[in-house]
Parts: sequence; structure tokens; C-alpha cells
Amino acid sequence: MNAIYRNSPVPRYHQLKEILRERIRSGEWKPGDLIPSERELSETYHISRMTARQAITDLVNEGVFYREQGRGTFVTRNKITQQLIRLTGFTEDISARGQHPSTRTLSAVMAPADELCAERLRVAVGTPIFCLQRLRLADGEPLAIEFSHLNFKGCERLLEEDLEHQSLYRVLESKFGLPLMEADQELEAGLAGAEEAALLKIAPGSAVLYTRRITYVDRNQPIEYAKSVYCGAKYIFYTHLKREQLFS
Ligand code: GLP
Repeated sequence: MNAIYRNSPVPRYHQLKEILRERIRSGEWKPGDLIPSERELSETYHISRMTARQAITDLVNEGVFYREQGRGTFVTRNKITQQLIRLTGFTEDISARGQHPSTRTLSAVMAPADELCAERLRVAVGTPIFCLQRLRLADGEPLAIEFSHLNFKGCERLLEEDLEHQSLYRVLESKFGLPLMEADQELEAGLAGAEEAALLKIAPGSAVLYTRRITYVDRNQPIEYAKSVYCGAKYIFYTHLKREQLFS
């Protein structure tokens, strides 16, 4: 779709947004590219500059473009698109994008499960669980802080594992023989606290995305409860939705 349909019920700025998104999806515009100005877009698509400005501003607010004073509007770099269908780990997500994942372990200890972890991992409060806090980076750029809480027979042996240079999920599956099957995951918008902002190298109060995941080896045995804080401006969570034929 490359034209604005004047008598369409879809507002013109919305049609333009989809056209601009398609020029990124198609690869015509690459991360870091300068995009045409509002004036150029209004001439190309025979719409008002106000309409062009509204479409661009929406996409800047959604993190698709960013503006540089006096230079123009550019396609945002490094939007990590994490799909929300398959159960994958950070290493897999970043590698799938052709980027280099790296990790800084902030802490790795056995500690008694608090009420929340006990409930999520279905153990008694105070049960010793493995608590891992890591900073996750892509091409050296901090993207997320992850707090993983793990409970399974022998989980204390994770203390001997190097989880800075190994994928936790790979270790769980290959060294501990745990078949990760599925997970429940929640996403919640938020604003970075001072400590999170310092670790993620963003301004305090910046938009972040909190995720909470319970990972199961089978439906009755949760082995991980993980809370993560993602830089909001660098992540897109993507899911493909299908409409069930509800009414045959
Ligand atoms: C994701 C999840 C975490 C999980 C991590 C494992 O980011 N949010 O719950 O622990 O991946 O990543 P890796 O296998 O790279 O250590």
C-alpha cells in the first residue's frame, strides 16, 4: 500500500503511519536512515503537513523514529523485536538478531524463597532457591536487568556454573536435563528507578517494560520465576494474533 486513500474510513495520518512502517519492514529504510521531511511527505502523499507531522510524531512516541534537532528524523536503531510466541532465552533472542549477547552477573546466591517466589514456584516460604541477578547486553549496550529465581532438585549446583558466559536456559536443559516446556509471562509498563536507570544507562524515570515469567518443565512444576526490566526505547515485543472463527 503506497497511496493515501482520500475517501477511506481510515484517517489519513493512520494510513501514512502504516506506509512508513512498511518502508521499514520492507528494508527500504534501515536503522539510522534519515527519513523524508514533513514537507516532502506531504508533497509525496498529497496530504497536509499537519497530517504528516501527526504521523511522524506518533511513530517517534512509539520509538520507531527519533528526532535530532536541526538534522531531521531517523529510523530508530537496535529495536530488539522479541517475539511472544516461542519460549526463548535472552541469548537466543539477541543471537537471532545477529547481535552479540553478553552478561554481567550482579549476584548469584542461594536464599530463602520469599512469599511471592514461594507462591510462584509452588514451594514453602523459606525454601532455599537459587537467586540470580544479571545485567544483559547486546553488542555491549545494556538492554535488561534480570532477576531469576530457580527451584529444582540440585539447583544449588548452579553456584558452580559460569552464568556470565553461558546461557542459563542452555545450562538447565543440557547440564541439568530439565526440559523447558512453556511459560506464563506478563508485561507491564513502568518508569525506571534510580538503580535500574544507572545499570541500564538511561535517565531515571525513563520508560521501561517489566516482564514477569514463570517457566515450567511441565505444567505442575514451575522451575523459574523471573522478573526483568527492559529499556523501553530499545525493545518491541511482537506477537502474531489469529482470529479464531468464533462464529461458524
Ligand atoms: C529471558 C527471560 C529470563 C531467562 C533468560 C535466560 O530473558 N526473561 O526469564 O532466565 O531469558 O536467558 P539466557 O538463556 O540467555 O541466560
